Amino acid sequence: MNNDTEHKKVAIVTGGDRGIGFQVCRRLGELGFQVVLTSPDPARGQAAAEKLKNAGLAVAYHVLDLLNDRHPAALRSFVMKKFGRVDVLVNNAGISLDAGMSKMEGLVRRKLKKTPRKMDYGEGPGILETDMGVMRATLEVNTLGALKMCQTFVPLMIKARYGRVVNISSTLGQLKDMTDEEKVPAYQLSKTALNAVTKMTADACRGKNVAVNSICPGWTRTDLGGPQAPQSPEEASKDIVWLATQPDNGPTGQFFQHRRRIPW
Ligand SMILES: NC(=O)c1ccc[n+]([C@@H]2O[C@H](COP(=O)([O-])OP(=O)(O)OC[C@H]3O[C@@H](n4cnc5c(N)ncnc54)[C@H](OP(=O)(O)O)[C@@H]3O)[C@@H](O)[C@H]2O)c1
Repeated sequence: MNNDTEHKKVAIVTGGDRGIGFQVCRRLGELGFQVVLTSPDPARGQAAAEKLKNAGLAVAYHVLDLLNDRHPAALRSFVMKKFGRVDVLVNNAGISLDAGMSKMEGLVRRKLKKTPRKMDYGEGPGILETDMGVMRATLEVNTLGALKMCQTFVPLMIKARYGRVVNISSTLGQLKDMTDEEKVPAYQLSKTALNAVTKMTADACRGKNVAVNSICPGWTRTDLGGPQAPQSPEEASKDIVWLATQPDNGPTGQFFQHRRRIPW
């Protein structure tokens, strides 16, 4: 272990090379964390980490493709050998393969109830027509990938009696007003199931000072969110890092948006 880094808290971020994940890495670095920026593509990931290092932040890169079953364990070996601890895990990586995702703007407007319901969103296969390949791939990354990361890192947190896990979810996964109108069934299901991962993992950590929560960052200008989104990735990262740095006895097993609890 390197002496310079052993006193810093260590935060792992999945999908850290662009979008919201990159800004979460930056913000955690600015707060003094040793950040482990991960992504599937080493060239893009190294370049992203280099950018933050050049800004004076403590950021290391390690490859993590959630479709590769061996990657989480390899990441654990790297982190424990180099830094000896894991304090924060941000399960940010996500994909949206549903054809209807390109109609996000109208859909989000409806969810936010800011404009009357429009009919120009939600084109594409619904739950009864969706391609099972799309469904499997989406669940594999958005849900099982996050679960695998919890299985890999939460036991270390429990042992250390400290941990904060933030699962980046979406209001599209809320059961409270779930419909088939959105036409993004794979994405919706993956986030609903991710929320279940949050609740069950939080329960498995009860009394161990390991908090596990879901958050919807809000509609954000990224490759996934599109250019029309009202919020920048920098803005989205603020609430995520707020949740990742809650004190002991803070919330666990909850779903947040804009720093408020929202229903599942
Ligand atoms: N943007 C929004 O409006 C919005 C709203 C609600 C929730 N969210 C959620 O916020 C999170 C971040 O979204 P974003 O908008 O920042 O998306 P983004 O810009 O498309 O970035 C997605 C990130 O996930 C990574 N990723 C994709 N497949 C992966 C895999 N197999 N293994 C590991 N990493 C993988 C990507 O890596 P590569 O660069 O290598 O592809 C990239 O770093 C997602 O979970 C998303 O569902 C976003």
